[in-house]
Amino acid sequence: AQEQARLVEESKRLAAFQAVKDHLLPSYTKIGIGSGSTVVYVVDAIAALGPAITKSMTFYPTGAQSEELIEAAGLNLAYISKLPSGTQLDVAFDGADEVDDDLNLIKGGGACLWQEKIVAAAAKKFVCVADFRKLSPRLGTAWKKGIPIEVLPMAAPRVLDALKQMGSHGARIRPGLPGKAGAIVTDNGMWIIDAPFAPLLLPKDSEKGLHAENESSGVWTVDALADRLIKLPGVAEIGLFYGQSGLEVASGAQKPVAAYF
Ligand code: A5P
Repeated sequence: AQEQARLVEESKRLAAFQAVKDHLLPSYTKIGIGSGSTVVYVVDAIAALGPAITKSMTFYPTGAQSEELIEAAGLNLAYISKLPSGTQLDVAFDGADEVDDDLNLIKGGGACLWQEKIVAAAAKKFVCVADFRKLSPRLGTAWKKGIPIEVLPMAAPRVLDALKQMGSHGARIRPGLPGKAGAIVTDNGMWIIDAPFAPLLLPKDSEKGLHAENESSGVWTVDALADRLIKLPGVAEIGLFYGQSGLEVASGAQKPVAAYF
């Protein structure tokens, strides 16, 4: 178990350094920084470039954790809310909980999905950095805890009812940290519901005769599920990042995976 943990950390580190090497051009000035344990290595890789390169860059966080990371590394911090309208980030780096065949992602294991999606959408390029455990053919295969859904607390019971009707078994409000009563509260004052579904189908599955049967079967394509979830009253954002184009997967020693889009 200790050896596996070491390999995972090494894989995260290698993927992060590779992703920064490939996708952080010295000419870039605005960079989004995601959340989670993999992003720690991304910030290490950026800091290792040295102030001569990073001093002309400004970094945009996706929550309290990444804000702290940026500051602790001595990088310039700014907020997306202050970006002039129409301005895009050059690139955003972030982790993921699972990456499927078409490079759709589950995110939100660290409860930061809402700001992560806003920063990802504001970037010309999104670079997902993930270790070898995260790649699986269909979402919901490797990450079994369910799709993270950020909800307004007063709406949580009704969202849970709707999820049950949609065939999610065992959807639940994410509890707070051990020893802390109540639900986990996001950086935005919301709660997270984790909603397990059967592995999510991709468009190519229909050629094999696999279809989402009906709503309550719990069998969904990524697009149909995302479309339905985001429309539930009380849902602020969902941890499905999907439908991007121009994706590629890079792998190397220890099988690090970086999905680029
Ligand atoms: C945070 O809410 C998430 O989206 C993270 O990006 C994701 O959980 C990956 O985290 P790790 O890098 O810690 O696995």
